[in-house]
Amino acid sequence: MPSVYLDMDPGHDDTLALLVALASLKVRGVTAVAGNQTVDKTSRNARRVLDLAKFPEITVHQGAGKPLFRPLVTAPHVHGSSGLDGYHFHISSEEQEIPADAQQWLEREFSQNLDDIYWIATGPLTNVAAFLIGHPQYLSRIKQLAVMGGALNQGNITPYAEFNFYVDPDAAHWVLAQEIPVKIVGLDVTHKALLSPYALERFSAFESEVGRMLHNLFAFYFKHEPNRTSQGVPVHDVLAVGAMVHPEFFSWQRVNLMVERCHESYRGQMTVVPGAQNPSTEVAVDVDVDSFFEWMWSMLARLQS
Ligand code: BDR
Ligand code: CA
Repeated sequence: MPSVYLDMDPGHDDTLALLVALASLKVRGVTAVAGNQTVDKTSRNARRVLDLAKFPEITVHQGAGKPLFRPLVTAPHVHGSSGLDGYHFHISSEEQEIPADAQQWLEREFSQNLDDIYWIATGPLTNVAAFLIGHPQYLSRIKQLAVMGGALNQGNITPYAEFNFYVDPDAAHWVLAQEIPVKIVGLDVTHKALLSPYALERFSAFESEVGRMLHNLFAFYFKHEPNRTSQGVPVHDVLAVGAMVHPEFFSWQRVNLMVERCHESYRGQMTVVPGAQNPSTEVAVDVDVDSFFEWMWSMLARLQS
């Protein structure tokens, strides 16, 4: 299994993604970005989840506090005022200060560790774009970037746009314009893979603090995710981890994509445009929901704490 870098804005579904990544991959570290909440909150949430899951050695690095060129839009209507409402973390008096050094840390990591770069991004692409704009020498080292973001024909923050691409459309557009192997996991598949309400009982059945945390977090999320149905809720970000580990669970199309940045009503809309013969971007158009969830549950069962 490759070792991976995670960029995220936890966030309930980011938390699930983080836990499944911990169980299935070697996580080299987490950079936090502003999105679901302000970056002080998303980085603190990442730290608390890692500590609770007993991965204190994995470091968190605070990144961008706002999109490349726009004011920040957050999602308290989905994730609450803390970004992880629903569970009360036990806060130790020794809670670590989180360094605001995401860009410097990535530069240190990529220059010292010469392996191929595997990167999973489950928030607005601000950190990823800002880093690669400043350090283009690493573009060719990226073996795979799996992104939760975008949608071909739907939206969840507007009728046209998915939240992560809406928040920072400039970053998303820039990343998709690079010749790097990107896998886009957007609403086209995340709205098919609904986590059933029965999951709350399954989380509790782990009889661990991770299970209790997931139960309480998702009890909140089940009430607030805007595209919930009686069948369940989309758990967007964890599908990007699935795409990295098990791309065969998905059907992919190679496409050139652009993201709308000018017309405010369509801000963040992702569209297919004619272009290169063999584009480096693949977009997920379908997912084997049963295989995905079977794998997800088996990974969560590995986390004992
Ligand atoms: C995305 O938006 C955020 O609220 C979620 O964490 C996910 O990354 C879904 O549109
Ligand atoms: Ca997210």
